[in-house]
Amino acid sequence: RQNARESLYIILNFAKNYYQHQLHHSDEGQAIGLSYFRERGFTSEIRKKFELGYSLDNWDSFSKEALEKGYSAEILERAGLLIHKEGSHTAGYDRFRGRVIFPIHNIAGKTIAFGARILKTDKNQPKYLNSPETEVYHKSEVLYGIYQAKNAIRQLEHCYLVEGYTDVISLHQAGIENVVASSGTSLTVEQIRLIGRFTPNITILYDGDMAGIKAALRGLDLVLEEGLNVNVVLFPDNEDPDSYVRRVGAEAFKAHLKSASKDFITFKTEILLQDAGNDPFKLAAVIQEVVNSIVKIPDAIKRQVFFHRTSEMMRVDEQMLITEGNKLLRKQH
Ligand code: CTP
Ligand code: MN
Ligand code: MN
Ligand code: MN
Ligand code: MN
Repeated sequence: RQNARESLYIILNFAKNYYQHQLHHSDEGQAIGLSYFRERGFTSEIRKKFELGYSLDNWDSFSKEALEKGYSAEILERAGLLIHKEGSHTAGYDRFRGRVIFPIHNIAGKTIAFGARILKTDKNQPKYLNSPETEVYHKSEVLYGIYQAKNAIRQLEHCYLVEGYTDVISLHQAGIENVVASSGTSLTVEQIRLIGRFTPNITILYDGDMAGIKAALRGLDLVLEEGLNVNVVLFPDNEDPDSYVRRVGAEAFKAHLKSASKDFITFKTEILLQDAGNDPFKLAAVIQEVVNSIVKIPDAIKRQVFFHRTSEMMRVDEQMLITEGNKLLRKQH
């Protein structure tokens, strides 16, 4: 097992170096990949820090090179780099073709997978193509950027959580280094525990669209259950942290983080209340939903603070919330 994983790390490292080399030294990589990253404002320093790369736009230039260097087709396939069709007589074809490459690192800095973005939007192709699950890549346990962020998270005792690869990279470039990405999925318990190893304080910076907001609401009861302190910052419609920081600059971005940050319970209550309007049945459902979230918080004092705060927001009796909450708490135990 140990050996099997070791050999995957070696081939994944080889692939990372190969893609990096193509980006900076092949004609195609320079003309297409490098100019793409430059247009996004990624400096050479940041490209190195995140080990960004480019995969050539043909079927097998990577696997050909790897096979020549003595790696087997079998190991390439197990690393998620080669796609082999059952029954085919050829070795297979490269998974990543004609895309810019974002290596995904584990906490020790080893490359364990790749995210790969097409350059021009195309309805027939996914914007991002990612490595499949492998022996070293379990998507649900990984946070993009954790290796580059871990020292800053520890030092600042705070972690920002964003959705995408480019959000992490842009924020680093703006001087915000305590940031990781869930990579588009809703948060998992494993990801939350990974953050919790470094800090109990987390602020979610999700895309300013309904999908982003829903994703934030979905993931967050889990975070409360783990006893972490969760805040949320929303961005204007159709912006994400990357586009926003590029538009307004680092200083205004940091000011927005300060002024727009809300604790999760307040954030959720506000969103649900807006949704409910004056409908008493919807309002009753909101109250239930908010109490459900509050009882997820393990700390009794924090729960009390939120019962008080939300009773004022929803204009209901605080004691009623506490009574409802206690019923749920008894059920949990
Ligand atoms: N994602 C994915 N597959 C897709 C779309 C998205 O894996 N087909 C993941 C990626 O990790 C991506 C994240 O979800 O970074 C957020 O998606 P999105 O906001 O659409 O992309 P951005 O990160 O904003 O990328 P870009 O700015 O390049 O459009
Ligand atoms: Mn696993
Ligand atoms: Mn984006
Ligand atoms: Mn985005
Ligand atoms: Mn009170």
